[in-house]
Amino acid sequence: MGHQVTGPTDAPQQAGGIELPRGFELGVATASYQIEGAVNEGGRGPSIWDTFSHTPGRVAGGDTGDVACDHYHRYGQDVSLMGDLGVDSYRLSVAWPRIQPLGRGAANPQGLAFYDRLVDSLLEQGIAPAVTLYHWDLPQALEDVGGWRSRDTAQRFAEYAALVHDHLGDRVQRWITLNEPWCSSFLGYATGRHAPGAHEGEGALAAAHHLLLGHGLAMAALRADAREGQQLGITLNLQPVSPATPSPEDVAASWRALLGANLLFTDPVLEGRYPELARQTYAGLTDFGFLHDGDLATIAAPLDFLGVNYYFPSRIKAAPYLQADPALRTADDLGTEEVVTAGEELTAMGWPVEPAGLTRLLTWLRYTYPALPPIYITENGRACDDVVDADGQVDDPDRVRYLDGHLRAVVDAVDAGVDVRGYYCWSLMDNFEWAEGYGKRFGLVHIDYATQERIPKSSFTWFRGLIADQRRRDEKDD
Ligand code: FCB
Repeated sequence: MGHQVTGPTDAPQQAGGIELPRGFELGVATASYQIEGAVNEGGRGPSIWDTFSHTPGRVAGGDTGDVACDHYHRYGQDVSLMGDLGVDSYRLSVAWPRIQPLGRGAANPQGLAFYDRLVDSLLEQGIAPAVTLYHWDLPQALEDVGGWRSRDTAQRFAEYAALVHDHLGDRVQRWITLNEPWCSSFLGYATGRHAPGAHEGEGALAAAHHLLLGHGLAMAALRADAREGQQLGITLNLQPVSPATPSPEDVAASWRALLGANLLFTDPVLEGRYPELARQTYAGLTDFGFLHDGDLATIAAPLDFLGVNYYFPSRIKAAPYLQADPALRTADDLGTEEVVTAGEELTAMGWPVEPAGLTRLLTWLRYTYPALPPIYITENGRACDDVVDADGQVDDPDRVRYLDGHLRAVVDAVDAGVDVRGYYCWSLMDNFEWAEGYGKRFGLVHIDYATQERIPKSSFTWFRGLIADQRRRDEKDD
């Protein structure tokens, strides 16, 4: 995909002038498989990402998460970096195969002990951990019996969630069941870009449903044992979707894209229903036989917050020429295509940069879902072609401009009446960017993968300034 277009050099070097609400939280996010490494240590079992990344041709450059940022051993240094950054909160994910190497049964004490050490060192630095229970590393043993296509995986997930919550619930206040179920189901089981790499129709839609069911069952388990002040939620990756032109074909295509990207997840979670459009759009792939009585009520368990991950907007045109032979059709084949406007700025991932898209998305949520809970932006950030200069520094003005613009877009949404409580930058440090391997860098901290040296980039300094400003404003208001 795309190429990097360097923007104007008016990057705001000084944070400031961003009027975030009082008490607004600022943090950074990562995920287990992307940073931990140590895949054969501490009794960890294999996950679908171990299998996938070790399959030739799946990940750029043949990269794997075997070592990644070696965070499993270097977490102390990484927590110190966060202490220096001054974040309120750190969003981490727990690797299911460290807790249940085969996806079921008693918790592995060594796996729990790693997260004990991590959580305790965060708390010592005054950083509140926010724990994501599933950021894509399904135990391979569960994939071997159907993975998320199988209804039983939802039950397994709820049991695993309860084990982790039981152990860390005395120290962790914010819990996120799933990260981006669209990616787990559609990239995992329809486009095949992510583990386990399947190309299916009904299988992918069943996976989406079972992920949501797992979320609902985990919510019930955690809620039954919730401690004072705990917040439970889910993180969805959502997009503002608009038609590329006003033609009826493009408008209809953008509805189908909106369904696949957002409504298939937001409607069940926030309103306990699947949109009518889902049955029409996926007719021929499934009759929704995987939907059982009572599932939607379970899935729509009340949330304390909704986590929203935003990277780029989606502009859609009708593309009937892309529709596969019906016999080969996957759940992602909707006869739509995303278009990029000539000359617009793209990130190193080829993703268009449009901060206002975040305001549109948040206001869309607010007006579409009257019962919308408070929102945390649980991921936002960009990949840049960073270089270490002769002085050993990494100057990344494009990332600073991106973050600055998106935080301003959050302020605009708040001004328009959306209740946004916090923002986590993706990511603390460069890491294993899934199918893209180590080639795409999203961090505030540069990683030299040969030496594991950490170099805070200029965006790190900028973000630290922003956090300090916000603290000062909060303290003044007290
Ligand atoms: C999101 C993922 C996260 C990271 C960013 C760039 O979809 O949740 O792990 O890869 O994209």
